[in-house]
Amino acid sequence: MTASVATRTEVAAKAVDVWKIYGTGEAQVHALGGVSVELEKGHFTAIMGPSGSGKSTLMHCLAGLDAVSRGEVYIGDSKITGLSDRGLTNLRRTKVGFIFQQFNLLPTLTAEENILLPLSISGRKPDQAWFDTVIETVGLRDRLKHRPSQLSGGQQQRVACARALVSRPEVIFADEPTGNLDSRSGAEVLSFLRNSVRDFGQTIVMVTHDPNAASYADRVIFLADGHIVDELHAPTADAVLDRLKRLDKAV
Ligand SMILES: Nc1ncnc2c1ncn2[C@@H]1O[C@H](COP(=O)(O)OP(=O)(O)O)[C@@H](O)[C@H]1O
Ligand SMILES: [Mg+2]
Repeated sequence: MTASVATRTEVAAKAVDVWKIYGTGEAQVHALGGVSVELEKGHFTAIMGPSGSGKSTLMHCLAGLDAVSRGEVYIGDSKITGLSDRGLTNLRRTKVGFIFQQFNLLPTLTAEENILLPLSISGRKPDQAWFDTVIETVGLRDRLKHRPSQLSGGQQQRVACARALVSRPEVIFADEPTGNLDSRSGAEVLSFLRNSVRDFGQTIVMVTHDPNAASYADRVIFLADGHIVDELHAPTADAVLDRLKRLDKAV
């Protein structure tokens, strides 16, 4: 069944029977126990599940931030499992964008410099028209010369979104991107992420524990105990909450 799906849709990232085992002997933890998933290009996918279910581990393995114990990971057509450190670094710079809960902006750089950093590190020049589009979309035109400390949390996260988007990566990975934001700023960031999928065909994978945040996605994948146990398409916050309650009972 997986094979027929692969022929119909373009896949931005996929995991094939991925295991992640931390530690050895008695202290061994099976953080992922054979996860296979395909993430479609131009889709917004949310990953949910109880704390400790392997959400961050799965995202880190998909993004090439963490090596798998077994199985294979692909970004686009490229197999990233087994790449050298240099190959992985190059892949993360060119094909992957990140948005973190803590924003992870460099405090000494302006918003504009932060946004352009991934491009300048890899020696690339921004496409001016695309840069302007991104800045307009996130509404940061009059904040470009400000440093992170001069921006609200919501504005800082919009800078991080612009930074992820400006290099037009194959996939953007976001780990609890609204976890540190009030509900209004969170809604702004989520709308922006959803619009970048709709308007620019960006692929986004987001870890969240918030059913309302997940309702912005096209698809929700539910993890429990290192396994994918359920999924929802075109989710509403109520439907997500309902599945989470069932999962909690089962665990
Ligand atoms: N570096 C690590 N060393 C040992 N165990 C880890 C490490 N990272 C995560 N784990 C364990 O792996 C499991 C999954 O963790 P994680 O992916 O962070 O879950 P989630 O993001 O869903 O809360 C947990 O049991 C966690 O304690
Ligand atoms: Mg986590």
